[in-house]
Amino acid sequence: MAFKERVFSGVQPTGNLHLGNYLGAITKFVALQDNYDCIYCVVDMHAITVWQEPGELKHATREVTAAFLACGIDPKKHIVFNQSQVSGHAELAWVFNCVARLGWLNRMTQFKEKAGKDRENASVGLYAYPNLMAADILVYRATHVPVGEDQKQHLELSRDIAQKFNNDYGAAIQAHGYGEGFFPQPEPIIQGPATRVMSLRDGAKKMSKSDPSDYSRINLTDDADAIAQKIRKAKTDPEALPSEEKGLEPRPEADNLVGIYAALANTTKADVLTQFGGAQFSAFKGALVDLAVDKLGPIGGEMQRLVKDPAYIDSVLADGSARAEVIADETMRAVKDIVGFVRR
Ligand code: AMP
Ligand code: TRP
Repeated sequence: MAFKERVFSGVQPTGNLHLGNYLGAITKFVALQDNYDCIYCVVDMHAITVWQEPGELKHATREVTAAFLACGIDPKKHIVFNQSQVSGHAELAWVFNCVARLGWLNRMTQFKEKAGKDRENASVGLYAYPNLMAADILVYRATHVPVGEDQKQHLELSRDIAQKFNNDYGAAIQAHGYGEGFFPQPEPIIQGPATRVMSLRDGAKKMSKSDPSDYSRINLTDDADAIAQKIRKAKTDPEALPSEEKGLEPRPEADNLVGIYAALANTTKADVLTQFGGAQFSAFKGALVDLAVDKLGPIGGEMQRLVKDPAYIDSVLADGSARAEVIADETMRAVKDIVGFVRR
């Protein structure tokens, strides 16, 4: 069966959005708007898999929404909303809890990292999180999912869940007139020079919202001075930049900064090295500061303007939720029929 092409992605409202979120995910969200119907979700239900202060969660949900808008997502042409306003996500997640196998979830590396040594004390939600993520995507029967590299394994699990549902319920799916399969196999979109932006302090660690050092990341709300300071202090090595990409292989910090430059300039690492090969880091960092301030400065400013108007943000989320719900409800009616739930 051919599925209508549709993009879905989500960002958690936890802590500061940073350059990794921007280059790995949000810039892709913006670009895909030209060619697809897109649904972009602030995944507040995912956020509470680890403890969140209720007041901060609300603020963070509005701040991520503000970032979407400030980066150029159009909430009229596309759908921007927060997950908890559409009950279909939780409903479908329960069905998927019964489709996915324990063995599949036991392989998830993000759970192992986040639960750490004290696994007995992790929430059940943190463990089942990939099933909710599959439900987010499939409740819209979305076909394309732009994400950073760290979400690849979760996307593979979503595909396995879609396939197992289609197989297990194959006869009912046919009987209800949905042809060969009810859910599409969602495809990850993980491309470009910054699918995994690393910490500015340690080229072996991912740039992350939860790193205790604020110098490890550039936040979307950082002002020009903060951006400049963080880039100037970023860890490097004493060599000049190589002229070819191969020369970056043993140099993770150099590789990371060149990748960031390429992504911000919308070009490739090879092109950046053609321009800066042989240059010292001091010169390259100066150019990177100018580029980053130029691209990120206006976004931070617009975010700050938008978060001062929570009523407007909430109206965007309410409108998006109502439109998302229409699609999700249609899927859930079909899922209930397929699974064999009696419904009104
Ligand atoms: P999260 O903040 O975990 O909800 O992530 C939101 C999106 O940003 C997901 O698509 C992630 O894959 C992406 N992302 C998070 N951190 C990075 C990073 N350091 N580099 C590239 N993409 C990232
Ligand atoms: N798990 C993703 C992250 O931590 C966020 C997310 C939740 C998501 N649901 C999704 C991403 C559905 C893509 C599609 O970054």
